[in-house]
This record gives sequence, structure tokens and C-alpha cells, in this order.
Amino acid sequence: MSIDIDAGRWSEGRVHALRQWTDKLYSIQVEAEVDPFKAGQFTKLALPIGDELVARPYSYVNAPGETPLEFYFVLVPGGPLTATLSALRPGDPLWVMRRAAGFLTLDEVPEAPHLWLLSTGTAIGPFLSILKTATAWERFQRIILVHGVRQAPELSFGDTIDSIRSRYPQRFDFIPFVSREDTDFALPGRIPAALEDGRLERRAGLEISPGQSQFMVCGNPAMVKDTVTVLQARGLQKNRRRAPGHITVENYW
Ligand SMILES: Cc1cc2nc3c(=O)[nH]c(=O)nc-3n(C[C@H](O)[C@H](O)[C@H](O)COP(=O)(O)OP(=O)(O)OC[C@H]3O[C@@H](n4cnc5c(N)ncnc54)[C@H](O)[C@@H]3O)c2cc1C
Ligand SMILES: NC(=O)c1ccc[n+]([C@@H]2O[C@H](COP(=O)([O-])OP(=O)(O)OC[C@H]3O[C@@H](n4cnc5c(N)ncnc54)[C@H](OP(=O)(O)O)[C@@H]3O)[C@@H](O)[C@H]2O)c1
Repeated sequence: MSIDIDAGRWSEGRVHALRQWTDKLYSIQVEAEVDPFKAGQFTKLALPIGDELVARPYSYVNAPGETPLEFYFVLVPGGPLTATLSALRPGDPLWVMRRAAGFLTLDEVPEAPHLWLLSTGTAIGPFLSILKTATAWERFQRIILVHGVRQAPELSFGDTIDSIRSRYPQRFDFIPFVSREDTDFALPGRIPAALEDGRLERRAGLEISPGQSQFMVCGNPAMVKDTVTVLQARGLQKNRRRAPGHITVENYW
């Protein structure tokens, strides 16, 4: 049975390359014509599986205007789309939604001297897109990128992070968390606990306060929820269009 795909909504792209970071983490580079998007937004990737077009949201890792397009994903056990995505090879077709969506973007974030970008797992992707833009560095004096993973090899994109650090050595900090093994470089445990007991501020050498700090938080919904609770106890508020605050969030599931 053939699948009817709306070519106005979906762009037929080609796989440029697939980079495998660990046994379950991949980034896929794609050549496709898409509408302009903002750093931090997501689109959808889709593949015909059986007689259905299976589509899921993925954040852009590339900056607006940068090619090829790049998406970072984890192979979810039993997940219908990720198993198929990870088996793609250069030249294979896949569908990309032309129009991006999402509000994890800098134009939603009020002014402040310090921007904290907190992520778990694959949710570091949208923050890399943001960090590659000039706007991030025009608007904030200091930017702290935090990435929480289970095991150290899951700290992907070291090359991208090194290149940001070498461009902004005094203004950029990268703070890794590794929760399920001991390392001599990462903070142990989880992000909300280290916010609560002050370890994250001590590592960054920066104090968190409503007057100084803006937070963007993305990834595991339990991490997002626990982080918001800890930050609210410190006097920070969720950022809403009608009531600007300090915390802008996106859940991945
Ligand atoms: C706004 C938005 C942006 C997203 N961006 C990305 C992205 O850039 N990269 C990415 O890998 N995923 C991203 N996701 C999740 C993605 O859309 C899929 O759910 C995921 O790739 C699994 O697809 P699946 O069909 O294999 O399994 P699904 O049936 O969609 O997922 C099954 C289960 O896997 C778990 N899961 C899903 N995604 C993740 C994840 N990223 N990390 C850990 N556990 C997960 C959840 O428990 C989920 O219920 C995003 C989701 C949303 C809502
Ligand atoms: N087999 C299972 O039981 C099981 C369970 C969950 C997910 N998975 C699958 O395993 C794959 C890998 O997922 P992943 O490791 O990339 O993502 P993840 O499960 O979201 O873990 C990433 C990081 O987020 C942390 N985290 C989880 N809950 C948190 C919370 N409430 N507050 C703060 N931090 C929190 C984890 O810490 P911790 O190590 O302390 O959890 C880990 O450091 C996915 O495909 C997922 O579906 C499997």
C-alpha cells in the first residue's frame, strides 16, 4: 500500500551521514529544504514503516542557516522510529517537516547577565544550536551549559563544546553530570540535587538569583519538573509570555 505524503508539509530529504557516538546514541545529518527556523526549535522526522508514516519531533542541533541539518537521538528500546532511523545509510531518503515549532528559543527569554542551559541526554541538542548563534553571545555575559548523562561516554559533541570554549574562554562553562559511574571530572548524581545543595553554583563560580539568572531546561520530564521545583524555592518563576519569569522549559516526552 502506498502512503500519501503531503509535499507542502513534508520535505523529502537524504541522509548525508550518520555519526554513532555509543551503542545507542546517534546524530543524523540530513540534506533537505526546510523553512527558516530559530535556534532551539524542533521539527519532525518521518519514515514510512509498514503502511504508516511514523513521525516524531527532533530538535535541530545545527544553527539556523548551517548545513547539513543535524539531529541527535537515542535508540529507545522498542521505539518504532529510532530503530529505523539508526539503520539508515548515506543517500537514504527520509521526510523532514518543513515548518519548525517550539518555544525553547532566546526570543522567549528575558534579559539577564547569566544564562544557564540545563539538559539531560539528547536534549543537549537544541542548546548547541543556540550556542552556535551570535545572538546568545550578544545577549548574555556568561553562559553555563550543563549536560546530565548516565555514563561518561554519553557526553557527546565534545568537539563542538571545545570549539565554543575556545571562542569564549572567559564567558562559557561546560559542566557535565554523570549519574551512574564515578569520574574525576563530572559532577556525580543529578542536576536538581546539585542545584539544591549549592554544588552547581560552586562548580560554576556563579550565584543563582532572580536578578542575575535565566534558565532554559530541556530533556527528561522528571528532571524538568524537579529542577523547576528547586528553582522556584530559590525565588525564580516560570517564564510566561504574559508574566515574564526566569525558567523556560521543554519536555522530550
Ligand atoms: C519537543 C520534542 C523534541 C524532541 N527532540 C528529540 C531529540 O532531539 N532527540 C531525541 O532523541 N528525541 C527527541 N524527542 C523524542 C522523540 O520525538 C521520540 O519520542 C524518540 O526519538 C523515540 O521515538 P520512538 O518512535 O523510537 O519511540 P517513542 O514511542 O516515541 O518513545 C518511547 C519512550 O521512549 C522514551 N524516550 C523518548 N525520547 C527519549 C529521549 N530523547 N531520551 C530518553 N528517552 C526517551 C520515553 O519514555 C518515551 O515514552 C523529542 C520530543 C519532543 C516532544
Ligand atoms: N531500561 C530501563 O529501565 C529504562 C529506564 C529509563 C529509560 N530507559 C531508556 O534508556 C535510554 C537512555 O535514556 P537516557 O539515559 O538518554 O535518558 P534518561 O533516562 O533521561 O537519563 C539521562 C540523565 O537524566 C537523569 N535523570 C533522570 N531522572 C531525573 C530527574 N528526575 N532529575 C534529574 N535527573 C534525572 C539520569 O539520572 P539517573 O541515572 O539517576 O536516572 C541521567 O543522568 C532511553 O532510550 C530510555 O527510553 C530505560
